[in-house]
Parts: sequence; structure tokens; C-alpha cells
Amino acid sequence: MSADSRQYSSFADPAAPNLSEALISLGNLRHNLACLRELAGPKRRVMGIVKADAYGHGAAEVTATLEKEGIRDFGVANIHEAIELKQSHAMQPDSHILAFAAPLAAHIPHYLEHGVEMTVCDHETVRAAETIAAAAGGRLRVQAKIDTGMGRLGVTPEKAHSLLELIDRCPNLDLVGIYTHFAEGHKPGGFTAQQLDQFLHIAHGYEQRTGTTVLKHAANSGALVSTPDARLDMVRPGILLYGCQPLDAEPTSVPVRPVMQFQCKVMFVKEVSAGTSISYGRTWSTTAPTRIATLAAGYADGIHRTLSNRAKIAINGQRYNQVGTVTMDQTMVDLGQDRSISVGDTAVLFGWNGPTAGEQAIAAGTISYELLCSVSKRVTRVFV
Ligand SMILES: Cc1ncc(COP(=O)(O)O)c(C=O)c1O
Repeated sequence: MSADSRQYSSFADPAAPNLSEALISLGNLRHNLACLRELAGPKRRVMGIVKADAYGHGAAEVTATLEKEGIRDFGVANIHEAIELKQSHAMQPDSHILAFAAPLAAHIPHYLEHGVEMTVCDHETVRAAETIAAAAGGRLRVQAKIDTGMGRLGVTPEKAHSLLELIDRCPNLDLVGIYTHFAEGHKPGGFTAQQLDQFLHIAHGYEQRTGTTVLKHAANSGALVSTPDARLDMVRPGILLYGCQPLDAEPTSVPVRPVMQFQCKVMFVKEVSAGTSISYGRTWSTTAPTRIATLAAGYADGIHRTLSNRAKIAINGQRYNQVGTVTMDQTMVDLGQDRSISVGDTAVLFGWNGPTAGEQAIAAGTISYELLCSVSKRVTRVFV
């Protein structure tokens, strides 16, 4: 295994190429960050969203790259991801890491121990956090999450005022931020504007009452582009950082580039006659003599089974139809009469030399987020 690749198995022979791999372009990541910073403006903080192993790209490597570019705020899903990232030493000790999950009581001591910022959504958690921090003689950094309409996590606007007051009365808790999350941030006006108004009403009310200012943030990728007023003190882009669009069917004008190329090897090519069925369930049959390539990746690698008979796959710059049901470890492609493809060639499922993850997501009936996150640990990440 080379220093710049991450492989799931300890087997490594430089002469034996990876059967499936995800090339991760750290150059494209830097380019995307530059685009997002330009949108956000020079005074605003940008939080790098690196949850779910940085949307499948490798949280430690992505975080280290963003750190080198001066990013000091990171967002992860929960305390487990936060600790793993802290232990990878990808972050500077004084950088901030916020876990978005609402903590269970048993998790609170770990936020304290590892210096992870905790999301608080209710009074009970605030009280538990104060008790634990006081007993340990430590201070906990907390961010209050306000549910302005996402309907997922957060204190209701009606209870937000008393939650913030309670945090302020806790000597061992430091309120370091207030945030919310949009339900359809890519759409300007309408519900997004309503959510933003409600959030600002709460945040400004708090600031006026206390005579303090607090870090306010709300914008994911969609809202960063659609709603300049939502950029506030910090923005939280994820999907645009990784070069995909918040809505695959309606790309924004931000010129981001794919960071991941998911590819695998052609491992078998055969000639078949007309009327030959291919794969489980016999969902596709040849109508004429053709050549079928079998690729060394399947749904266990991250080629969604819903792509069966729908995906286009690029081999040596040409796009071919994927045919038959995608299986756990192998996927078939119809080469037609093309004789240029042979065993050992590279097939691109998505990336800069093939369909985009967005195109593939539309074909699979999902979103690029899900395709990126489901490239499995069996797929070696190669940082280029
Ligand atoms: C709280 C929070 N902020 C920011 C993001 C980033 O969103 P996106 O990838 O759409 O930019 C997410 C991702 O879902 C999130 O949960």
C-alpha cells in the first residue's frame, strides 16, 4: 500500500492493480474550496463538512487538505466520527469540530475529553452536560440547534429563548454558536426565507438581551448559492465541496469539479450470441451477437442495484450500456461490436473521465450524496 492510498485489505502488491478504486483528487477539492470561498466572501468562516468519512472521500485526508488551506471549522455527524478524526491528527489542536447529532447522556463525557463541540437541542441535555462538566472540572463548548422547519433536530422556536438562557446560567458551558438547517436550501425565498427569518429573530433576540454576539450559521451548499442573506457568520457546504450539485437535475453555476472518480477493472470479456440472457433474474437478453464485459465491482462496492439496465459506464473514453442486474461483486456491460476493450482496462462508474455522480444518481433514482457515501470500504481510496 502506498502512502497516498487507503486500502481495506492488508494485501498489497504494487504489480497487482486494485480491482476497484476511488481516485480522490485533492487538487479538485482545493479548487472547489476556492470557488466556495469566493462565494462566501473573505470575512466569513467556511466549515468543512467531513461527516460520513467526508462523503466517502476519506475524512482524514480531506480534513488535512482543508486545514492546509486554512479551514479551521469541521462538521461531523456524531461523537464517534469526531473522535476518529481527532485521533487521525488531521486537524490542528486549536481547530473546531462540531458534531451535529443530539448526544445521548453517555456520550457527553467524551465531548469533554476530546474537546468536541456539542449540539444541544433540549433542556435536559443542557442540564446533564453542566453536571458532567462541573463534576469533571472542565468546560464544554456547545452550539444550540434551532429547528426552524427541517423537522429533524433542534429546539422549537418557542422553547429556544429559555434554552439559551439556561445555557447562559451554566457556569461550565460555553455557548459558541447557534445554528439551524434548511429543508430546501437550494430554493430561494419561500420556506427558506421563512426559516431564515425565524432563526434570525431568535439569534438577534438573544444577542440583544445579553449584549453579546454569537456565531450564527445556517447555509448548506444549496442555501450558500441560493440565498446570500443566509451566509451569516459561517457557511457549511458539503456536496459542492466534493464537486457535486445540491440538486443533480438543476446544476448551480458554481464551477466545481468532481473530487471522486469511482472506477474498476474489466476482468472478463466474452462473445455471446443473440438471445443470451445476462445475470440474475434474466432482466436483459442480447438481440444480436455482441461482446459482454464483466466488471470487477458490484453493489457491495457501491454500484447501486437500482442502476441495473440504466447506467452508462465509460471505458477508454467511450460510454456503454450497463446490462443485466448488478450483482454483489460484478457488473456487466454491453460492448456491442467494439473490439477495443480488453481485460485489465479501466471502467469509470462516475468521475472526471465518465458520467458524473449526478448523472448516475438520476439514473439510479437517488442523489449524488448517496452514491458518494455508498462507495464501500472495499474500494481503495487513492489520493491523487
Ligand atoms: C447540519 C448540516 N450542515 C451542513 C450540511 C451540508 O449539506 P450539503 O452537503 O447539502 O452542503 C449537512 C449535510 O447534510 C448537515 O447535516
